[in-house]
Amino acid sequence: MEEKFLIIANWKSNSPLNWSVSVPENIEVAIAPPFPLLATIKGYSLCAQDVSQFGPGAYTGEVSAKVLAGLGVKYCLVGHSERRKNFGETNAQIQQKISQLLENKIMPIICAQNLEELPKNIEGCSIMYEPAEAISVNGQYNPESPEKIKTALSFFPKDVKLLYGGSVNSDDILAIKPLVTGVVVGHASLDPQMFTQIATKCS
Ligand code: PGA
Repeated sequence: MEEKFLIIANWKSNSPLNWSVSVPENIEVAIAPPFPLLATIKGYSLCAQDVSQFGPGAYTGEVSAKVLAGLGVKYCLVGHSERRKNFGETNAQIQQKISQLLENKIMPIICAQNLEELPKNIEGCSIMYEPAEAISVNGQYNPESPEKIKTALSFFPKDVKLLYGGSVNSDDILAIKPLVTGVVVGHASLDPQMFTQIATKCS
């Protein structure tokens, strides 16, 4: 069976109300909500936005991969550029997070702007290429040209699934889709109508 194109709705620290979309049969939609909302999402795959680098234990404020697995989480972003920039996340921490996720059978999606941001061992992971300057700012899209995306992706490993993120919206999705196995959608995922347009165009 052909694998479904994956669209991850990265809500970041937003909580859109009454979010519901109908998902075309050949598309997989995963929602990446703030942690407390993971347990409330029904009918879509679940993606966490982050995970603790440690296992369960005395780590106040952390969410372990085991807890995520118990909630049925299938994917987890690691090393998003917003975490690297705002929380000083390092490749060493990212490698630990990946180990935690793999032990708990959750697919790590490593977010990287370049090859230097990839940890040494990426076996069993997917990669999301996302240039930080392409991330939308206050609802303004800053899309990267599909040609540049294609060139950048050509340097990434070929033996893992590659996704793209950065201002993905209903206008540019058709040009991006052929380049990757999935996309991560931030701002445009907050509006279910806009997200539905993206999913429909991908189907
Ligand atoms: P954006 O964010 O689609 O709003 O640019 C994507 C992301 O950073 O995951």
